[in-house]
Amino acid sequence: MENQNSPSPVVPRRTVLMGGVGALATAALGGSAARAALPAAPFSFVHITDPHIQPERGATLGVSKAFAAIGALKEKPVFGLVGGDIVMDAAAVSSERADLVYGLWKQEAAKLKLPLHYSVGNHDVYGLEAAGKNAAAAQDPDFGKNIWKRRLGLERTYGSFDHQGWRFVTLDSVRVTPGGEWSGLLDSAQITWLDDLLRKTPRTMPMVFLTHIPLLTVFGQYSDRTTAALSNRTVVENGRQFQEMIQNRNVKAVFQGHTHVVEEVNYLGTHYITGGAVSGDWWKGRRLGVHPEGFVVATVSGDSLAWRYVAYGWNAAAYAPSPGA
Ligand SMILES: [Fe+2]
Repeated sequence: MENQNSPSPVVPRRTVLMGGVGALATAALGGSAARAALPAAPFSFVHITDPHIQPERGATLGVSKAFAAIGALKEKPVFGLVGGDIVMDAAAVSSERADLVYGLWKQEAAKLKLPLHYSVGNHDVYGLEAAGKNAAAAQDPDFGKNIWKRRLGLERTYGSFDHQGWRFVTLDSVRVTPGGEWSGLLDSAQITWLDDLLRKTPRTMPMVFLTHIPLLTVFGQYSDRTTAALSNRTVVENGRQFQEMIQNRNVKAVFQGHTHVVEEVNYLGTHYITGGAVSGDWWKGRRLGVHPEGFVVATVSGDSLAWRYVAYGWNAAAYAPSPGA
């Protein structure tokens, strides 16, 4: 019998090589570039993305199980990076429903007892569908990312913090228009801010980024066809600009969400890690039939970062609506 409280690393790490940099693919994401400001002792953190909490399909219990699995990790993470789409949904629902799902998230997140650092997801923004029908909807004080900031107590949608000599950066990859459209973009104000942050960051300092919409991915090649182009609703449209900004830096990893798959793209030593989804295929089973409900645990040791995907044993079929319901 399956024990849903016992996390098991069922998905092996997979490495996708690009640009002829195969020699950079190692078991731990280390390098000789940085030797300064190394952490005194190894530490771990979790990357939690796309939980899409809702009352339906057992999702709240699922999130609770995932968080219990985090609490049982042998690595004892010291903080969490939360990669967006925490709720299902705020963009296309009433204010009452948006408040309800945010309330569920707040209730479950409190059980983690970890400092949480967030990036916003496209499902976390409020009022997009309404604004598409009536421009006045964009005047709601909660419109767009305002509900996310209010409910999480955040003043900004992007920022950075340091932990034991490593610098962590949370990005806002979701562009929202007053007309209710969204797409993947790091806006010009954020690019300016990031440029300034990089200037103030020693070149050898190890860095980790968090984004909701991927900055680099080959998702289309296995979800659609090998020649498929990605839209700016699947990948950040100025992801290349980001890559050029960081390519001479000591960026170890970029943690991504949105596509709900487990993927690692290594380009010039920066590992773009898409960390699956707590919700799997939006609480309907495994994403693309193969990626289970789970989260990432990452461990930093010296100048290296290693990670694994932890499936927490959710059985989506047991919570499927009965036929005709
Ligand atoms: Fe999502």
